[in-house]
Amino acid sequence: MLSGKRILLGITGSIAAYKSAGLVRLLVKAGAEVKVVMTPAAREFITPLTLSTLSKNPVLLDLVKDESGQWTNHVELGLWADVFVIAPASANTVAKMANGLCDNLLLATYLSARCQIFFAPAMDLDMLKHESTQANIKKLISAGNELINPTYGELASGLTGHGRMAEPEEIIDRLKSFFSAHQPLKGKKALVTAGPTYEAIDPVRFIGNNSSGKMGFAIAEELAKQGAAVILISGPTHLQTTHPRIKIINIVSADEMHRAATYHFPQVDMAVLSAAVADFKPAQKATQKIKKTDAGLNIELIKNPDIAADLGKMKKEGQYIVGFALETENELANAQKKLQAKNFDLIVLNSLKDPGAGFSHDTNQVSLISPTHPVKEISLRSKKEIAIEIVKALTELHA
Ligand code: CTP
Repeated sequence: MLSGKRILLGITGSIAAYKSAGLVRLLVKAGAEVKVVMTPAAREFITPLTLSTLSKNPVLLDLVKDESGQWTNHVELGLWADVFVIAPASANTVAKMANGLCDNLLLATYLSARCQIFFAPAMDLDMLKHESTQANIKKLISAGNELINPTYGELASGLTGHGRMAEPEEIIDRLKSFFSAHQPLKGKKALVTAGPTYEAIDPVRFIGNNSSGKMGFAIAEELAKQGAAVILISGPTHLQTTHPRIKIINIVSADEMHRAATYHFPQVDMAVLSAAVADFKPAQKATQKIKKTDAGLNIELIKNPDIAADLGKMKKEGQYIVGFALETENELANAQKKLQAKNFDLIVLNSLKDPGAGFSHDTNQVSLISPTHPVKEISLRSKKEIAIEIVKALTELHA
């Protein structure tokens, strides 16, 4: 249940921080990917070295890393995480979370995270009972955060009462039940095409394009996050994915992508076709490197297979296809035509007019068009955030 899950663990200044080491160990053992963010006070109780060793990831400590001005991107961190677990959550951090304070990396991440937040308070019994703390906890719960109740027992103060942080095993159980209930695409299979295709001219040259593959990889990651098993057919990119539910098939040419996509499509519930497939390929690939001549060179191009159109023809009841359109004029009308012609259920219209959108950028600006819903405009934002919107729309279609 936790295999491949991305757990961001926030540790604050409480003696219960020693239990966080055990929690990290159990999470890693269960197959989760764990990153730890600590407040300055937490470092008084447990060392980052212990946690980086157990989590196999550098521990995140400061908003600004060093004098060079390098900073930790708390927004990216929040987007990376499937859940953010703050354990132990001290009275001070609970109060700051409830009131929107933001004076360390953990709090900045909390404020920008979109994933589910869990918090496991740990403090002395009177601090916990205090009406301010109780009001803060209530406020956090009403904002949608999940409380992992502190338990009864002996406390560091020597007193006995409520205030002990829940045991790591209990926290793990809470996460397991959360994930089993929050995976709308659990048991579904998805196919994603991504990146460019390269069409060989001779052994060293090709016709290609500037597609980075970032959009397709982000979609594959998001589909996997929502529980789907993903086959990602990718053209040449520098990108990698480590999600255990993503199987990557590397191809080079449109013909290879076509073969892989048509082979796997009958077994999947949905396909997202984000690859920038070359429409044409050289009629012949020269077996030797073409030498330059004074006469110039003409290369005859022939049409590549249209993968999207072929999958659209193969589509059966219960299967859904999302396609992309890149248009420079009559954008909406052309995208709608493409939606029908290729038998898509949803088309993502990329606008090249906006700076920061499209190929190579980390951001994009799109419109989602389907035959059944009004057009949904999504303003300029990161490709990961666009992927979340696309997968949400696809999940709604599939519901
Ligand atoms: N596509 C595909 N195979 C191709 C060409 C395109 O699978 N040979 C897919 C793309 O991945 C995208 C959609 O079809 O999801 C639209 O691609 P686009 O290039 O914008 O449309 P074309 O049909 O090629 O039309 P045109 O280039 O004339 O706009």
